Amino acid sequence: MKILITAGPTREPIDPVRFLSNRSSGKMGYALAGAFAHEGHSVLLISGPTQLEIPANVDFISIQTAAEMAATVASYIGKMDIAVFAAAVADYTPAAFAPQKIKKLGGTVSLELIRTQDILSSARTTFGFNGTLVGFAAETEDLEANAREKLVRKQCNLIVANDVSDPAIGFDSDDNQVLLIYPNHTTPLPPASKQALAMAIVEAILEIHGKFTPV
Ligand code: CTP
Repeated sequence: MKILITAGPTREPIDPVRFLSNRSSGKMGYALAGAFAHEGHSVLLISGPTQLEIPANVDFISIQTAAEMAATVASYIGKMDIAVFAAAVADYTPAAFAPQKIKKLGGTVSLELIRTQDILSSARTTFGFNGTLVGFAAETEDLEANAREKLVRKQCNLIVANDVSDPAIGFDSDDNQVLLIYPNHTTPLPPASKQALAMAIVEAILEIHGKFTPV
């Protein structure tokens, strides 16, 4: 099977020395890429900057911005059977890039931000993807309700939901605890290392893919 995975943060440049980003480590997406490759699947990992080693037998494309990630996904997703969006994509990017370093002038400063493309939401609509589509939801409140709303709005077959308000799990941690949100039910997975969870999530995705009939 051909699998596309997005992972890690994006970086939105403000000027030559500054950017906007987030706390994503990329660990969950890389663990999923490694687990799919271990099962013998052909994996393309599209990742923002991380400190991680590229898993064995995984094709890799490095990107920086949300726009670069969107363009890369757009060119490859048509060939894929399964797409998993684990990246923490910036929702906003500076309206303009300052070609010279911005000097301080005293007082306060405002930065105008504009919306980036929602890559996951574009998968079914703009990119016409009809394979198995899996998203992630990082929430600090109403985990299941917010994640289920994303499942419907972004036309996913599965959302992997995690509570990022708990410092023991999520973002930079090696461990995680997730809910698997399916269209008709929710399955909690017990807390585990991101490596162990990746195996369980891969199994769940492959099971859905087996049952899934493209529209
Ligand atoms: N996502 C994406 N492109 C974006 C924003 C998010 O592909 N520009 C994907 C993420 O990779 C993840 C899912 O959408 O699979 C959910 O991301 P999240 O940040 O939780 O949701 P948002 O849609 O940004 O919703 P909100 O910020 O309102 O919670």
